[in-house]
Amino acid sequence: MDVTQTLALLGGLTPQQFMRRHWQKKPLLVRQAIPGFTPLLDRRELFGLAAQPQVESRLVQQQAKGWRMKQGPFGPRSLPALSSPAWTLLVQGVDLHDARAHALLQNFRFVPDARLDDLMISFATAGGGVGPHFDSYDVFLLQASGRRRWKIGRQKDLSLQDGVPLKILQNFEPEEEFVLEAGDMLYLPPRYAHDGLAEPCVGADGKANDCMTYSIGFRAPAKTELASELLQRLADFAGDGADGPDGRQLLYRDASQPATPTPAEVPSSLLEFAQKAVHDALKDPLALACVLGEYMTEPKASVWFDEALDDWAPRHPAGLCLDPRSRMMYDADHVFLNGESYRARGGDAALMQRLADQRVLTAAELRRASPAALALLADWHAAGWLMRASA
Ligand code: SIN
Ligand code: CO
Repeated sequence: MDVTQTLALLGGLTPQQFMRRHWQKKPLLVRQAIPGFTPLLDRRELFGLAAQPQVESRLVQQQAKGWRMKQGPFGPRSLPALSSPAWTLLVQGVDLHDARAHALLQNFRFVPDARLDDLMISFATAGGGVGPHFDSYDVFLLQASGRRRWKIGRQKDLSLQDGVPLKILQNFEPEEEFVLEAGDMLYLPPRYAHDGLAEPCVGADGKANDCMTYSIGFRAPAKTELASELLQRLADFAGDGADGPDGRQLLYRDASQPATPTPAEVPSSLLEFAQKAVHDALKDPLALACVLGEYMTEPKASVWFDEALDDWAPRHPAGLCLDPRSRMMYDADHVFLNGESYRARGGDAALMQRLADQRVLTAAELRRASPAALALLADWHAAGWLMRASA
């Protein structure tokens, strides 16, 4: 994507300007970000996804007794009636299950893939909403159909209501209010408070127009969680090799330990051993980058790949494309795909980097691939991570 080209999606800003002025800093309201936008999935298709056990979905209702939240899946008759007001169905990770939703996310790839999370779709009857709250992550809220009234504010007091099954702000003080129509979009940085209510809305045919909002959500690793995950992986990485002379794990040895009158005291030589173990785990200059890439490309927990259905055809005129659920990234020394890392250099690295950025390789690009690159692509195809592109 040319990040210096103005985009209607960003209200006439270039991705470069958007990232500089708004990303993680301040909201942006874009009227007709996608002119004439209509829902990618109709209500029936969305409810169909919410009925599947591998799809994460939630039902939120605001009733006289207070907020209620239920986890899916929701079978055909387990959602409230469409005529019943103020309920919301939230369906997470729609891009993993629907090619059109996956394609929509491609418009947001001016942000690194390592930050992109998923597309959540909400369906609400009039008056439906999930209450005033803040999210920890950046989000683009794209109105897909119907109308939603958003109240937003830089809330200082982030205290939450007690005893509710959702995160609801105790003292929400909105500063701005907008009604979004289909095609309009609102970007909110992390921790910016918001409350969206579905407006009653009648379509041209006189029927109630569904309020559907698409949340293009981002993820950001938490520092301690990342440290704990990477240290674990680094230890495994360092432990993969033969530490000890016989190829076994090197054990702590204390042949010179004197008899101790203070048995509860941690021996200082054990601390030195621990220090060396941690130091050695970080010694390989590529190790941290390697485990970071593997971690960032781990497929979502709900994803599993089926072995290839189509024949391996690297000469296919339409080329090859990544499965929408595949996560592929790279750094200067590695290519990462679905939690695996590969050292790559020269022409092969450039080819794999192109596959990661474009998510497709054309037939012409494949013709220039080396036998080693083709063998790797064949393995990925067999694993179901890669498939023949549709012409
Ligand atoms: C919704 O679509 O109803 C909620 C989205 C959000 O507030 O993050
Ligand atoms: Co939110």
